[in-house]
Amino acid sequence: MPPHGGDSTTVTGNGTMANSRMRLRLNPNKDHKPEGYDDLELDFSPSIFSSLEKHLPPNMLVFSRDDKAKFMREILLKYLPNGERHRTQKHKEYRQKINSHYQPLHHELYTLNPTAFFVPTFLKAISDNTEQSFRSIISEPSPDIYVFQMFQPEFCELLQAEIENFEKWVAEAKFRIMRPNRMNKYGAVLDDFGLEPMLDKLMDDFVRPLSRVFYPEVGGATLDSHHGFVVEYGEDKDLDLGFHVDDSEVTLNVCLGKEFSGGELFFRGTRCEKHVNTGSQPEEVFDYSHVPGRAVLHRGRHRHGARATTSGHRMNFLMWRRSSVFREMKLHQKDFSSWCGECNRMKMERQRSTCAATRLELIAKEGESTA
Ligand SMILES: [Fe+2]
Ligand SMILES: [Zn+2]
Repeated sequence: MPPHGGDSTTVTGNGTMANSRMRLRLNPNKDHKPEGYDDLELDFSPSIFSSLEKHLPPNMLVFSRDDKAKFMREILLKYLPNGERHRTQKHKEYRQKINSHYQPLHHELYTLNPTAFFVPTFLKAISDNTEQSFRSIISEPSPDIYVFQMFQPEFCELLQAEIENFEKWVAEAKFRIMRPNRMNKYGAVLDDFGLEPMLDKLMDDFVRPLSRVFYPEVGGATLDSHHGFVVEYGEDKDLDLGFHVDDSEVTLNVCLGKEFSGGELFFRGTRCEKHVNTGSQPEEVFDYSHVPGRAVLHRGRHRHGARATTSGHRMNFLMWRRSSVFREMKLHQKDFSSWCGECNRMKMERQRSTCAATRLELIAKEGESTA
């Protein structure tokens, strides 16, 4: 019999004590004022620690700041290996090889320059940083899908030229390139050829404010890693993209150009793992046509696909953003009715039948008393 130190304490294989009470709480402790972590040497952004602290088990809130940071760091680290491919040694070497041989075409793309990159309306809304300012430039054509004008036309052109330059180098050097994901045969990972610091900033300062407001239920406030890439569609490239979900909590998809027809995105409702293959409700059906410079923001679990680009050439910029905290908490949850359309439908169904049963009971009682 394994030694037992109480109902919630077990001894794991490597001899460390794992206490099942020591896990994050789904509902944050709203009254708790988190500590600042700015002065500590940490592998993650200090703001992640501050927002995560509200999810600590209540008995941990009185622990020292170092102990709390250590506990939270361990949770965050668990999600790095699959989230951040580049942390592995092999991937590091791959990047080094690219960086020591590839000559960037437009150096100004490698440092974020807000006024050159973004349209003024977007910049203004982000700097005002209120839900109202966001809503003033964003439309929501279907529930939880947000559309807004984001990139300047010149920025779109420069980025496309940079990618074409990179692809040209890959072909000439016969370099074995890693494509963005298993679904696309064409396209490139922007983080792999020097754009990671720029994209980090883009995500932290310009996308996290939006996802904090629009996607709190899927970790929108604690997004801590990203995968940035471009995909290319057209006659000589990928044609379309099958129905799928992204390996992300929140996805940003911006069309860069050029001239094309077709290529519409089709959305069919958000689903948890268990319900990913269930049917969709009529109100979940939504098709979207790309416009260069315009962004679509959606949950990674919002099922979607891309129709064939029937003529011309289309390039899209994509950012998959993930939250280690959300992934950890999801492990201890069964009901995702706050974002899964099917979980929500089943919950409503249960409520309806409970209501109906109560009504029947009341009628029966009334019948008894008047009999
Ligand atoms: Fe996707
Ligand atoms: Zn579900």
